[in-house]
Amino acid sequence: MFRRKDTEAKDLPNAPAGGLDDVIVVVEQAVNPYVVLFHDPAGYRAEQVRALRNRLVAMNPDGEPKTLVVTSAVRGEGKTVAAINLAMALAELERQQVVLVDADLRRPSCERYLNLNPDIGLSDVLLGRTTVERALRTAGHRSLMLFGPGTRVENPAEILGSARLDELFRRLKEHFQYIVVDTPPALPSTDAGVLASRADGTLLVVRLEKSLKKQSRQAVRLLQDMGGNVMGTFVTDLRGADPDSDNRLAFDSPQSDED
Ligand SMILES: Nc1ncnc2c1ncn2[C@@H]1O[C@H](COP(=O)(O)OP(=O)(O)O)[C@@H](O)[C@H]1O
Ligand SMILES: [Mg+2]
Repeated sequence: MFRRKDTEAKDLPNAPAGGLDDVIVVVEQAVNPYVVLFHDPAGYRAEQVRALRNRLVAMNPDGEPKTLVVTSAVRGEGKTVAAINLAMALAELERQQVVLVDADLRRPSCERYLNLNPDIGLSDVLLGRTTVERALRTAGHRSLMLFGPGTRVENPAEILGSARLDELFRRLKEHFQYIVVDTPPALPSTDAGVLASRADGTLLVVRLEKSLKKQSRQAVRLLQDMGGNVMGTFVTDLRGADPDSDNRLAFDSPQSDED
């Protein structure tokens, strides 16, 4: 139980006459609350992301640099949050240099979710306005670096389709072991397909009980048709979301065999 010491209120310069008992303190959560690797690194959900990370790392025994695209069928399925969590989990590994690339030039959100100011980034590099080195920034978590979306552009498809994208991925592989790429949804535009076709692997985010199976399947087909290597799905938003509130997730629950 938290108790305020009586001396504290009167010591504050603008303390109200009646004390601070009625004051409600709102703590701003600047980094998106679902970025669990940041907010709750010891929690169950962070562990699940690390389990995915470990599988990806195990699939890459030679430790070659890899580009991983994170996408989903439609908007709002948790792509950006999943990409940030995965990038943070990879950055926890020793001697692994990791960069998160915000390639959603339509509705970029990595900077906002990480509480960073917009800056130059992907679009500027692809348009030849700046260099890769200048556009790289620290993401504010361990050694994770961020490659933001850059200056707003009117023609994202054209820009992402340029040959400069291959060159950029090649350059990033000189610096990083893992390049995690956040994308727009796969169904409404070709951006995600284009990015997937140039990446080493693609993960499809499925938001349980919200994503439509038909759309997720359609997205997988489309990504594969464009030459993407769809490695698996990243299931988010499990009901209950923590082992204490959902028996299906319990490590050691007496009722776990019932359903
Ligand atoms: N695991 C989760 N559980 C509940 N809400 C989530 C989860 N992941 C993300 N969200 C929320 O859902 C919304 C969409 O997430 P976002 O990552 O921006 O999706 P997308 O990039 O697919 O459009 C955001 O408001 C985000 O805070
Ligand atoms: Mg997004």
